[in-house]
Amino acid sequence: MNLRYTLSFLRILKIPGLYPLMKDWQASIRINFIFAAYESGLLKALSQPCSRRNLVEKLQIKRLELFDALLEVGLATKELAVKNEKFFIKGKRSKAIANANGDMLAAIIQASVTYYSDAYKNAAARMYGEELGDNLNEIGEIVARFSKMTEPIIKDFIASLVRGKNHMSILDVGCGSGFLLRSVYELNSNVNGIGLDIDEAVVDQAKNNIKTWGLAEKFEIHHGNISSFSEKAGPFDLISLINILYYFKEEDRFDLMNNLCERLAPNGILVIVMNFHSKGKDVAAANLNVVNNSLKGLTPLPDIDEIKSLLEQCGLSKIKIHQFMPGSSFLGLAAYKG
Ligand SMILES: C[S@@+](CC[C@H](N)C(=O)[O-])C[C@H]1O[C@@H](n2cnc3c(N)ncnc32)[C@H](O)[C@@H]1O
Repeated sequence: MNLRYTLSFLRILKIPGLYPLMKDWQASIRINFIFAAYESGLLKALSQPCSRRNLVEKLQIKRLELFDALLEVGLATKELAVKNEKFFIKGKRSKAIANANGDMLAAIIQASVTYYSDAYKNAAARMYGEELGDNLNEIGEIVARFSKMTEPIIKDFIASLVRGKNHMSILDVGCGSGFLLRSVYELNSNVNGIGLDIDEAVVDQAKNNIKTWGLAEKFEIHHGNISSFSEKAGPFDLISLINILYYFKEEDRFDLMNNLCERLAPNGILVIVMNFHSKGKDVAAANLNVVNNSLKGLTPLPDIDEIKSLLEQCGLSKIKIHQFMPGSSFLGLAAYKG
């Protein structure tokens, strides 16, 4: 490095915090680029190397300067590259998102740039009394795609509950994408059951997935609220609440649990998996808790002991707590009826 550059670099280092902030900013520029490239269809259009002109035609771009500016960020962050005048995807994040299995990764980026950012953008005003956000029903589709991330984390825990068992019937409350039903089926094909979700867009997503996975004979997807779910199906050998308990107010949880216990078969298992209050020890849980405290219809992450004692009050026994990752407050609970 020549002396002139070294001096400017040293001047940057002299301003406390500037260098680490610039690094963080670069990471956020990458996230924002990937978001725009995904939402605009650019990543999809780049499934094969493509000239700028072909991209403009394919995507029917109306504002060329803005499109060029975005391509430039793609090149500067090394998410894109260009060879023989053709653009292609270079970065591993963009490559993974453009891949056939990239939907969950895309949803992580979408969640981060939309409702997670909104929660922080509005945190100051809301802390001082402004109305909480009222768009929970608009983000359900992204939440369900994002939440599929839970699948590989909890699979061994679910295996310990269903593998090698005789026929089991399952009720997955707040089924989201329906991944839990697929996981259970992969671990024990002798199952059938119901996935229930209150959000219509999410129900469409789950129905579509269950059909694509060839599981429509095994699982029905219902649209509805568990609190008023009048379906007579059951009793169930396993009822799951995956990433959903914080959608219920604290004062409603006792009734919810009793309702679910009534639907459990003797020796049936109630499974709860979610982020619990991390007391500043788990950044993912703490981040989610900001969203939970920002939107109407969500509640703060509860303490694990609170939920364990709720299950005991409802007469469930042999309660086991499962730690998935060291230092994480993302936990599983299994409790038995009778
Ligand atoms: C964070 S998502 C989790 C989805 C899925 N269990 C997963 O882990 O991927 C919570 C889901 O619960 C659904 N939900 C919330 N309250 C509900 C209720 N009272 N009855 C049925 N579904 C509900 C929401 O619509 C949402 O799709």
